[in-house]
Amino acid sequence: MTVRKRTAVVGLGHQATSDHLPGLGQCHLAELAGVCDVDASQVAAVADTHQVPGFTDVEHLLKQVRPDFVIVAVPHHAGREVVAACAEAGVHVMKEKPFATDPHEAAELAALCDKTEIELMVTVQRRFHPVYPAALALLERIGDPYLVEGRYTFHCPDPAAGWRGRAKLAGGGCLADMGYHLIDLLLWYLGLPDRVLATVSAAAVPGAAYDAEDTALVHLAYDSGLYGSLLVSRSAGPKTERLAITGPHGTLTVERGIARLLDPAGQVVESLVREPAWPCPPAALIDRFCRVLDGTAVNPSGPAEHLPHAAFLAAAYASAPTHRPADPKEFLA
Ligand SMILES: NC(=O)c1ccc[n+]([C@@H]2O[C@H](COP(=O)([O-])OP(=O)(O)OC[C@H]3O[C@@H](n4cnc5c(N)ncnc54)[C@H](O)[C@@H]3O)[C@@H](O)[C@H]2O)c1
Repeated sequence: MTVRKRTAVVGLGHQATSDHLPGLGQCHLAELAGVCDVDASQVAAVADTHQVPGFTDVEHLLKQVRPDFVIVAVPHHAGREVVAACAEAGVHVMKEKPFATDPHEAAELAALCDKTEIELMVTVQRRFHPVYPAALALLERIGDPYLVEGRYTFHCPDPAAGWRGRAKLAGGGCLADMGYHLIDLLLWYLGLPDRVLATVSAAAVPGAAYDAEDTALVHLAYDSGLYGSLLVSRSAGPKTERLAITGPHGTLTVERGIARLLDPAGQVVESLVREPAWPCPPAALIDRFCRVLDGTAVNPSGPAEHLPHAAFLAAAYASAPTHRPADPKEFLA
């Protein structure tokens, strides 16, 4: 009989209540053993619904529940402290993206995970969705890529709301938050660019009090000659998500649940469709992490894989006020 791993969820906001907590109910390999949030009323409500002990302090949760792993879904500024507490207690972590808010924090946490020998997996869902790895296998069909275009947009009516409106708390704006998924695909498929130049703005709601950019355009260039851009916005609808990579023999496009290979004139040569397109079930991610812990699956999204993401973001944010390109490799701590 399978012994389910005992997990605790820390941070009981939107992502935990819409994805992780319902997902745990459908897991084959894990079960909920405790919950934690700094908001006592949220703890009481969730603990009561799921009939598990609740805590407002992560250290108490770790001592009393002694979970096998923790799912961390806290605001970006709180991630370091929660991940460090888990690592110091020798408890594995499934971390909501981003891994860290800057290259220094990323390097420090990666070293701590190494030292304490904990496994940490960042939940960038596309890595676990069947279409995105399949698209990678199609990439070689287009020849050496020379152009990349990424776009990820949706409309959030109040960009000033909560910690996401403050760059210091969120570690940036839309580029660091939702843009992390597009950056993850770019780095996974094509590697770290040699130069990035970002333009960012927080102008979608004039008069609203926020400094975290709602829109960002990042120009990219590689020494190979490949160049392109990523456009990310949480104010400009409609909802779109697309990455297109073009080479001499055609274009590979990836959208939610569908990858297409186009000929150089733009005609579809073949497509891979996944139905339903979305989501990547949270239960599948959690069970996958249990297999990583058992040593029967690999972790495609560990700390080392996410150091380049922090470097990319730091370079983009460094370039924006100077209007000059920055080399992300110089930001790899
Ligand atoms: N993978 C995805 O597609 C996806 C989607 C949405 C959010 N997220 C990520 O999930 C994380 C949480 O986002 P959210 O939208 O749920 O935010 P949220 O603001 O809705 O919830 C965060 C919760 O964490 C709690 N919290 C704050 N500091 C804490 C601490 N030190 N210890 C314990 N709890 C603490 C808050 O009280 C709040 O209840 C972020 O990292 C975000 O980027 C990922």
